[in-house]
Amino acid sequence: MAELQHTPRVVLVTGAAGFIGCNAVRHLLAADAALRVVSLDLLTYAGSRANLTDVERDHPDRHRFVRADIRDAAAMERLFAEEPIDTILHLAAESHVDRSISDPAAFLETNVMGTYVLLEAARKAWAERDDVRFHHVSTDEVFGSLGAEGRFTEATPYNPSSPYSASKAASDHLVRAWNRTYGLPATLSNCSNNFGPFQFPEKLLPLMICRALAGEPLPVYGDGRNVRDWLYVADHCSALWRIVCHGVDGRTYNVGAENEWTNIDLVRQVCKLLDELRPKPTRSYADQISFVTDRPGHDRRYAIDPKRLRDELGWHSPVPFRQRLRDTIEWYIGNAKWVKAIQSERYDGRRLGLPGGQKP
Ligand code: NAD
Ligand code: TYD
Repeated sequence: MAELQHTPRVVLVTGAAGFIGCNAVRHLLAADAALRVVSLDLLTYAGSRANLTDVERDHPDRHRFVRADIRDAAAMERLFAEEPIDTILHLAAESHVDRSISDPAAFLETNVMGTYVLLEAARKAWAERDDVRFHHVSTDEVFGSLGAEGRFTEATPYNPSSPYSASKAASDHLVRAWNRTYGLPATLSNCSNNFGPFQFPEKLLPLMICRALAGEPLPVYGDGRNVRDWLYVADHCSALWRIVCHGVDGRTYNVGAENEWTNIDLVRQVCKLLDELRPKPTRSYADQISFVTDRPGHDRRYAIDPKRLRDELGWHSPVPFRQRLRDTIEWYIGNAKWVKAIQSERYDGRRLGLPGGQKP
């Protein structure tokens, strides 16, 4: 195991009521019984306090939820005055490519300016301290599209295609600049597509599971041959914690599970698993697949080379993908109420991100 670089005591998790955030909060509280976690979230359409219900119930002494906006400098400064935060796990963001096509402004405001405000608050609060750490969570989408061969390494040049990935690229640059210019202790990670419990059903896997179960068409963009590299959210959280504690200051780590699938093959797998778990009397769920107009600027292939994370920090993804996919489908089947609440209050499953299309 790599040398310990940082010992967190009080962790601020931004975006804690979102998909990766709520899984990360659970992971942290379980990983270290001495840790205090401050969960911050604005509760946009994508975040829900219900995602943290068990955490708030089970850890009243070690966990606090704060509703706040990372773009609000005064609120961020207040938080640093109230809590002896020594670690930030920065996840808060607008995160959906299709929404960034219809309505990019929020992406620039939260992902770029919000990250800037948070960096400044940390810099002021931490002054010359070196026993602190800002960990920035980013995406492999900053690297743009791959052809049929090759994988993204930490040295791959940035070449983002969507307003979302461009805004995340900008935020990565800001974090590196604050590290190099002001000496703010910081690490970064760029990960591939996550899946698992609590993912908002606008993203491919939960959307397909929910639409399949509702008997609706399964909209596969373009020819369905775009490739994504899938990472189970709990595995991502364990990698993040490894980087926060053992990563080297100023360094970036790519996080992926070497698990590439074309979209159409992935959707077919979902249908096959649903045929086993919730069989329909006559037909397969695969009969609901429908090819639709492609996403504008749709990157063809993403694939992460996780060599640095494996060789330097000893991390690997332990459980076979098919089991993770089955667990995820079972979670959505078992949490129909959670899905229904989102569908009736926040997102009805309609197509997002067509040029000239309605704003969400
Ligand atoms: P998500 O959309 O589920 O959650 C984002 C959370 O941030 C939400 O709870 C939302 O309420 C909160 N938020 C948004 N704007 C805010 C603001 N101004 N102030 C405070 N909170 C705000 O996203 P996710 O999938 O959990 O992604 C988390 C992070 O991981 C993002 O930075 C994303 O770019 C990155 N990432 C995600 C994936 C993925 O596959 N999900 C892959 C790579 C990187
Ligand atoms: P998504 O979950 O939006 O993640 P990202 O764009 O960040 O990779 O989409 C994953 C892939 O699935 C991407 O290639 C677009 C495709 N996709 C569809 O084919 N149909 C859909 O309804 C959605 C939401 C995505």
